[in-house]
Amino acid sequence: CGIVGYVGPQRAQDVVVDGLRRLEYRGYDSAGVAIVHDGELVVAKRAGKLANLEKELADRPLPAAHTGIGHTRWATHGPPNDANAHPHTGGARRIALVHNGIIENFAELRGRIEADDHVFLSETDTEIAAHLVELQVQSGVDLPTAMQRVCQQLDGAFTLVAVDAEDPDRVVAARRNSPLVVGLGEGENFLGSDVAAFIEHTREALELGQDQIVTITRDDVTVTDFWGTPVEVERFHVDWDLSAAEKDGHDWFMRKEIFEQPRAVADSLIGRRGVGGLLQLDEMRLADEEIRDLDKIIIIACGTSFYAGMVAKYAIEHWTRTPVEVELASEFRYRDPIVDHTTLVVAISQSGETADTLQAIRHAKSQRAKVLAICNTNGSSIPRESDAVIYTHAGPEIGVASTKGFLTQLVACYLLALYVAQVKGTRYGDEINEIMGQLEAMPGHVETVLEQAESVYELARAHVDARSVLFLGRHAGYPVALEGALKLKELAYLHAEGFAAGELKHGPIALVEDGLPVLCVVPPRGRDQLHGKMLSGIQEVRARGARTICLAEEGDEKIVPYADHLIRLPEVPVLLQPLVAIVPLQLFACELASALGHDVDQPRNLAKSVTVE
Ligand code: G6P
Repeated sequence: CGIVGYVGPQRAQDVVVDGLRRLEYRGYDSAGVAIVHDGELVVAKRAGKLANLEKELADRPLPAAHTGIGHTRWATHGPPNDANAHPHTGGARRIALVHNGIIENFAELRGRIEADDHVFLSETDTEIAAHLVELQVQSGVDLPTAMQRVCQQLDGAFTLVAVDAEDPDRVVAARRNSPLVVGLGEGENFLGSDVAAFIEHTREALELGQDQIVTITRDDVTVTDFWGTPVEVERFHVDWDLSAAEKDGHDWFMRKEIFEQPRAVADSLIGRRGVGGLLQLDEMRLADEEIRDLDKIIIIACGTSFYAGMVAKYAIEHWTRTPVEVELASEFRYRDPIVDHTTLVVAISQSGETADTLQAIRHAKSQRAKVLAICNTNGSSIPRESDAVIYTHAGPEIGVASTKGFLTQLVACYLLALYVAQVKGTRYGDEINEIMGQLEAMPGHVETVLEQAESVYELARAHVDARSVLFLGRHAGYPVALEGALKLKELAYLHAEGFAAGELKHGPIALVEDGLPVLCVVPPRGRDQLHGKMLSGIQEVRARGARTICLAEEGDEKIVPYADHLIRLPEVPVLLQPLVAIVPLQLFACELASALGHDVDQPRNLAKSVTVE
């Protein structure tokens, strides 16, 4: 998802395509451009890599023009094909528009105008915005006013950029909860989803705020709110080099992605509540009947996704009273699992291409089980081969070690659990509503944890000489301990192990020796027994010389005497605690690996998506 807009003396197509190339790192699966020439729009778009679009442009060059927009798309609504690629146009091909984000109420808006003979050429949520903006300009208002009026009707998160064939010298963009920056040139101006899009042309930029509309011409930039009132915006100078610009000023994509988590969680929650507050999972495609008839659920996944599955087991069993097994995808089909048409197999995969998981799905289907995928990659193999899907909306994840992918998988698992509870009637609406409210507060809580990053980094740097690190957790904190240890293995190449704290005394405690760092995920005090038992475990390792780093909720004073270092977590229910507890562990691993001089984004021997069994 990259966006570029341009007005100026240069050939628009070149500036736009170069900008898209600079945004390639953001990940995408189709690309397109639109230019305004002689009162007409010329659009070119192609599924796949930018090279496909470039080939198309080489075969059929666009006329020289000075105003253009471009887009690289990461599919959310509708698979990555030519028709769904942006830009989209209105029915009269007067407006071309690109979009990042999700328009939540697109189905309702589309329904409203479909009756008036509007024909839609794609499955995207974007096309409706192109039609609506076009209707406005056709009614006689100018493009900025049209954009304002349309934005007032849209729900969700979006950046929109549009051009009008009859108004060739300006580009108008809108921003709500999705990034957009303006690049200020001499006699030319730029728009980009980040500064990398235009850094080779200018280092002077404007950062837009929420709910703002910007109009660029060659010599002018005006910014208003959605109601047309002019607003002041901040100008800044970009002193990053290109690679820092791509990472939004962070040294690693992974670190950038850790900081994107509040947004990723929020996006994965968008549009899940329907009429009367009832939970709705649009893409789910499983009939209520099928859910009611379920006897058991088997979750299959690999790596980090497997740990998301372990958390899911706690949530699904607790809220739905349906038995859940969690199994490594690579083990599943080789042990002759008991699976039939009353089994729901849930396959969790960020990439949607993991071979072990795909093979496990095929086995499950051959046994007549229904398969539901939880996946971050629209149109990938795993959702394609599954009966149903819940997409996470983390956006492209570039760091090999999963971070925002994990958090959004957790969100999807909670949603699935609540949905099954709703359909099976094991939980009532009030309770589901309350939990949804707690989930909706999570982006803010994750933000609070991220505010402590500096102190976590300091702690991490103090551990560069560690030879081994243990992680302890109980209940939903146990998978967090496993995931925290995995992050450290993957990134710092350090011996790290996660244990269920109660199991410590049955063996692992023999590993504890003087000075061993032990990270402890302390359950909330609300679950008294759990909390007390965890404290006992912590005392046991401390008594044997371990140095404890405890993650405990705000206000937990009982932990203070047992923590050599304390990282505070917001007060949240135990089942949801993984969403906040994993964040300091990600920061810890990222910083420690960085301090050790390792390549954090591409750790040795690992691949982002493992397509061999
Ligand atoms: C690879 C990656 C891990 C990831 C695992 C599962 O091993 O290095 O970070 O957790 O695959 O990937 P998936 O895309 O199926 O979630």
